[in-house]
This record gives sequence, structure tokens and C-alpha cells, in this order.
Amino acid sequence: MSQGGGGSKAPLVHRAASPRVPLPARLGVLLSGRGSNFEALAAACDDGRVPATIAIVLSDVSGAPGLDRARERGIPAVALPRKDFSSREAHEMAIDGALRGAGVDLVCLAGYMRLLSPSFVALRPFGILNIHPSLLPAFPGLEPQAQALRHGVKLSGATVHFVTEGVDEGPIVAQEAVPVEPGDDAGALAARILAVEHRLYPQAVAFVLRGGFEVRGRAVRPLNRG
Ligand code: GRF
Repeated sequence: MSQGGGGSKAPLVHRAASPRVPLPARLGVLLSGRGSNFEALAAACDDGRVPATIAIVLSDVSGAPGLDRARERGIPAVALPRKDFSSREAHEMAIDGALRGAGVDLVCLAGYMRLLSPSFVALRPFGILNIHPSLLPAFPGLEPQAQALRHGVKLSGATVHFVTEGVDEGPIVAQEAVPVEPGDDAGALAARILAVEHRLYPQAVAFVLRGGFEVRGRAVRPLNRG
């Protein structure tokens, strides 16, 4: 449940003292490509690290390999290409309808390459997560690994955050650093980060589903359950 500001300096915007949905929850995954993070989430659901099942996988790309990976696991997988809809709003309404039809509690973006409109995001406050292959707020947007190399940073990493209106700027749920090695190209760095993503995203999804945290200002903090 979202709440207004409390008495301390940073406004309390969300408090999730306990799971807000019965567990196991139902996840909806949005992807545009290969779907390795989807696979990581599916594996973590199967072995109990994430208290959820994946109810549906949706893609804006008909031939996205991630859709086939989902079907191989027996998970409903539907392509909803943007060109099949007259407007962005109509496209997003179709996505929302599919998510609702599947009874989805939490949406996980996993390489979904289309920006979501503020009105779509507003339908699910603190109900959409994304994973991004940099240490946000550094290097948001496209090709973050190449951005990191161009900047000459010695550390990059992966970030899981709540999706808000801005690009890659919602409150950070989980983050892990990955070293940039001499001689890295974007592909080598991306592969090193991806291995971390596959561990971090399931951990972050489980954390959000179990509750016991609050978002105060931009900061996501565990609640003291003592
Ligand atoms: C990942 O690096 C993810 O962080 C980014 O897009 C990539 C998707 O890879 N948002 P995959 O489709 O999950 O393999």
C-alpha cells in the first residue's frame, strides 16, 4: 500500500510490512529479446528461491527467443507487437489486459526495450521491477556497458529498481558491483554483468514479494521486524 509522507525528513512513499499478495505470487515477465533473465527467474521460481510462479510472458517482438524459452517451460507466452495497435495507449492497454487476465501480481521487465508510459506505470505503483546492467544512476538508457567503457570506470554492475515514470531512475531495490577488466569490450563486460544479473534479479524479486521494507524518499530499506 502506498502512503503519504511521514514525520521524518524523507517522505514515506510506500510501506510493505508484509507480503501484499498471497504467496506464491504470480509474476508477469515483459521481454524483447533472448530472455536469459526470464530463465533465471523461472529457475528460481522452480527451486523455491522466489515464492512465485511465472503466469505469463509477453513480448513486443514476435520472434523474441525469450518467448520460445517460456513455451518450452510450458509458460503462456504471447507476442503483442506495437505495430498491431493503433496507438501506444492501445498497445499498453493490451499488455495490461493480458497481465490482468493472467492474474499477475508483480511485473518483471527483463530486457523489455520499450519505454512504458506514465499512465501504464501508474496502474501498478511499486508493482513493476526492472533490471539494468549498470550501477544506476550511472549510465541509464541504451548500451550502458559501452557507456561505462567510454567513461573509463573501473567498476560497473547491475541494478534492480522499481519502475517509475523516468528512465531507469526508480528506487533501487538491489545492486551489485562488477569489475571492469583491462581489455574489456562491451560484450565481455556485458557477459560478466549478466552472470550477476541472473543471481541478483531473483533475490530482488523475492525481497519485494516477501515485504518487510519501506521506500522512504528514494531509499528502499528493510523494516526492523524486531
Ligand atoms: C540484460 O542485460 C538486462 O539487464 C537488460 O537487458 C538485458 C536482457 O538480457 N535490461 P536477457 O534478454 O534477459 O538475456
